Amino acid sequence: MAESPPSPRPPYVAPLRRTLPDLLRDPLGTLVAVADAAPDQVVRLNLGAFRPYLVAEPAHVQHVLRDNAANYTRAGAGRRWGRVRRQAGDGILSVGQEWEESRRRLQPHFTAKRIDAAVDDLSRAISDAVDELTSAARDGAPVDAAAEVSRIIGQAVSRVFFGGKISVADVARVVAGQDIAATSLHYRLLVPFLPEAVPVPGDRAFRRAVRSIDEILLPLVRAERVGGDGGDDIVAALARARDAHGNKLDERRIRDDLLAVLVATTETPHVVLTWLFPLLEQLPDVAATLYEEIDRVIGPGDVVGREQLGQLHYTRMVLDELLRAYPSDWLVPRTAIADDVIGGTRIKAGGTVLLSPYVTQRLARFWRRPEAFDPERFAPGRPGWAHQYAYYPFGGGVHQCLGQHLFPLEASLVVATLFSRFRYRLCEPGMPTPRLAASLRPRERVPLMLTPHRQPALV
Ligand code: HEM
Repeated sequence: MAESPPSPRPPYVAPLRRTLPDLLRDPLGTLVAVADAAPDQVVRLNLGAFRPYLVAEPAHVQHVLRDNAANYTRAGAGRRWGRVRRQAGDGILSVGQEWEESRRRLQPHFTAKRIDAAVDDLSRAISDAVDELTSAARDGAPVDAAAEVSRIIGQAVSRVFFGGKISVADVARVVAGQDIAATSLHYRLLVPFLPEAVPVPGDRAFRRAVRSIDEILLPLVRAERVGGDGGDDIVAALARARDAHGNKLDERRIRDDLLAVLVATTETPHVVLTWLFPLLEQLPDVAATLYEEIDRVIGPGDVVGREQLGQLHYTRMVLDELLRAYPSDWLVPRTAIADDVIGGTRIKAGGTVLLSPYVTQRLARFWRRPEAFDPERFAPGRPGWAHQYAYYPFGGGVHQCLGQHLFPLEASLVVATLFSRFRYRLCEPGMPTPRLAASLRPRERVPLMLTPHRQPALV
């Protein structure tokens, strides 16, 4: 007689008395410790009224994102997520048919082929934006790392993907608005069980930020509708797009998708890259290897070309490791639609399932010395990691990040261009602490003093 499968066990429940104070003090470290202590298991976090499942094991992550993805929806996945998403409206960040239509409309702009074709334009725009730092470097004026990386990327993205139709200042205002909206949710993140009708600090800032975003994007959509130039940039493409029934898109839908893409293309990369500056100061060997490669491959004043980009192997390894150690999308929540079993553990319908690239990418059983920043993990020719989902900074399954080809390219261009022109030192030494907002960002500002490096001779 065939043996019947063992009945699913209830999840391991992390004890509230120990976990809650630790979570408030050091949320990331505590989540990693909890997951490390429960190999192969789904952990139920007992946070009082809110009891999400923490799914960290790579095979379980694959189950949720890919194998049984239909049972795990982003809709309603935690209030925190709901509110963060609402500021971006629906569109690509929603679920169901609306998401599907948006994804179909946006995907062609971000294929590997499309991104590859944009290398020269992106590189030129990044080079121009980096050059604007020259006077600060010559005058010895400090610059803010996050603001400058955001400006550089914003300038490039606005030119290349948005046909220059959004001014650099407006890109900055939208990104800042999004930043305020995301960080103003910090309080709700800590008390996710509070009804939204109960006002908490940050609510007003949140509403103001959303209004300021609308004031920029809605007029842009309307202007494109009336006098569009028929170009192939994203604004033009969305303005003339039709829905599944052949109707023109509602302006709100266009605004939602524009915001999602604008923010994703500029905000996420700058959040990740800001960690690089304090890290390199802590790790002189990594910094020396990185600088050596950039000095060898990129000449003074060069606009980085496609061929040079292909030679920046170590730069790419550093970026891959940066995404392991500081994945900007540190939390990927889902709601279980029906009862399920993950790795022998029962998951109840309606339960919140928390996936975290940050946690999985630091599990001691999958990563040797996970606390160490070691780009060699990603050296070409090294055996891959033990499981495909042991490393998933860009998510997986149907919602896999649209920017997974753009980010490495955009980030390599920024890093190579910047360090081919400048060196820096931190105004305030030390590693910043992570701040948990919608993305994993440094809590403290990272001001830098730049010095010119191998600038082309003036003629
Ligand atoms: C550091 C860079 C980035 C990281 C770590 C990152 C990470 C992620 C992750 C983890 C998801 C999955 C979310 C989920 O499953 O709920 C995602 C989705 C998404 N990302 Fe990124 N992202 C990055 C950059 C970008 C860029 C440059 C773009 C620009 C196009 C982008 C656009 C998107 C979009 C539109 C989605 C939603 C896709 C969908 O639901 O169909 N991301 N990203």
